[in-house]
Amino acid sequence: MTGLSITRRGFCAGLVAASVARPAWANADPLTAQKASVQLAPDGYGATQVWSYDGTIPGPVLRYRQGDRLTQKLVNQLDVPTSVHWHGIRIDNAMDGVAGLTQEAVPPGGTFDYDFVLPDAGTYWYHAHTNSMEQVARGLSGALIVEEPAPLDVDRDEVLVLDDWLLDPETGDFAEPFAHPMMMSHGGRTGNLVGVNGRYDFRLTAQKGDRLRLRLINAANARIFSLRLQGMDAWTVALDGMPLHAPEAVDSEITLAPAQRVDLIVDITADEGAPAGLLMWMQDDSWQALVEVAVSGRSARTTRPAPAALPPNQAMDLPDLSQARSLELVMEGGAMAGMDSATYQGEQLDFRALIDRGQFWALSGQAGRSDTPFADLSRGDVLRVKLTNRTAFPHGMHLHGMHFRQVRADGTFGPLRDTILSIPNEPLEIAFTADNPGKWLFHCHMLAHAASGMTTWINVA
Ligand code: C2O
Ligand code: CU
Repeated sequence: MTGLSITRRGFCAGLVAASVARPAWANADPLTAQKASVQLAPDGYGATQVWSYDGTIPGPVLRYRQGDRLTQKLVNQLDVPTSVHWHGIRIDNAMDGVAGLTQEAVPPGGTFDYDFVLPDAGTYWYHAHTNSMEQVARGLSGALIVEEPAPLDVDRDEVLVLDDWLLDPETGDFAEPFAHPMMMSHGGRTGNLVGVNGRYDFRLTAQKGDRLRLRLINAANARIFSLRLQGMDAWTVALDGMPLHAPEAVDSEITLAPAQRVDLIVDITADEGAPAGLLMWMQDDSWQALVEVAVSGRSARTTRPAPAALPPNQAMDLPDLSQARSLELVMEGGAMAGMDSATYQGEQLDFRALIDRGQFWALSGQAGRSDTPFADLSRGDVLRVKLTNRTAFPHGMHLHGMHFRQVRADGTFGPLRDTILSIPNEPLEIAFTADNPGKWLFHCHMLAHAASGMTTWINVA
């Protein structure tokens, strides 16, 4: 472990391109989980031995159109079992990719045929869901983009997969172990090298006046990105894939918890040569460039009206709270708060005994996934869940298979999301209509937390 924080500043440029887009709608090729050697760290550092999809970090951008059927054969060329989760897709449960819950993990040398319809347009992603804490950190993730029926009026559509890697600066290899008690009991595995699309110095080029769609995906294991935009006017048009009913001008920082996505429409306002891009907040209180936009020239299109809303997806209705069931999910444990005891694998254990079993956290008194779901629902039921955070850490809570909305204190609803950030001691409530049958995982997307207690599930009959 090292306290070193490597960012683009202070390093020379010149990394190999590490991410390729697959030709759109040409996905007869399998998706191969395989080892690869990738130059993640700046020149002068060693290459990193990664686990990848198709040899690149991130994996290929999978692009489909709304309503398309995704057929994707996973080929496992790793030495360990794996599976693919299609994060944020309101999917058929059997295709959700959760090893041990919705499918058996695919053994080394094995294959699995993922085959499902994409009901919603938007920005999604795919990642390993077998020992995710390690497999995602080693590189098994990529963007899944579902296009709206009609193209938007933008000059370009850019996918930006934000990630970080915890590397040994001597060798360039991943710092081990992945199941590190210190990381599991604190904020999770946070990297010392931050990058976008597999590069620490990812940059875009644009002309003044260009309008871009930026699809930001936080693929990091634990890092919460705080972002600022420079040299552009921006509007948020979608969160976690789902369109907002009206674009919202970005006038403050953007917070992106692990697994969250934000779709922005940005108009480049910077003059040629002036600074533009995405800045990220660093622990030392500085703002550093995460994505530089090199501005040259000026687009012929000068003034544009504010962007229109994206077309809505289906089934975006507000949940009817009048008949809702209410439950409370209490988050406990971790460093600086702890807990008295919890149930783990059917046994009531005190905190010490839980730690001995690698369990630092619990959800409503249960550490890790049990045989009985947190909620047993019938199709069409409305559930509200109070998320009570009695820990000293934020948690990005993710529900599989269905999007939910925050229920604010004044009774109004927030936008549809599949992952929401819970802050210690801040009350938070969500609600959704259970319209997708199956066994759906509900867990913290700080993946070290999910692996050490913060995982439960919801059954929809
Ligand atoms: Cu993106 Cu269960 O996760
Ligand atoms: Cu957490």
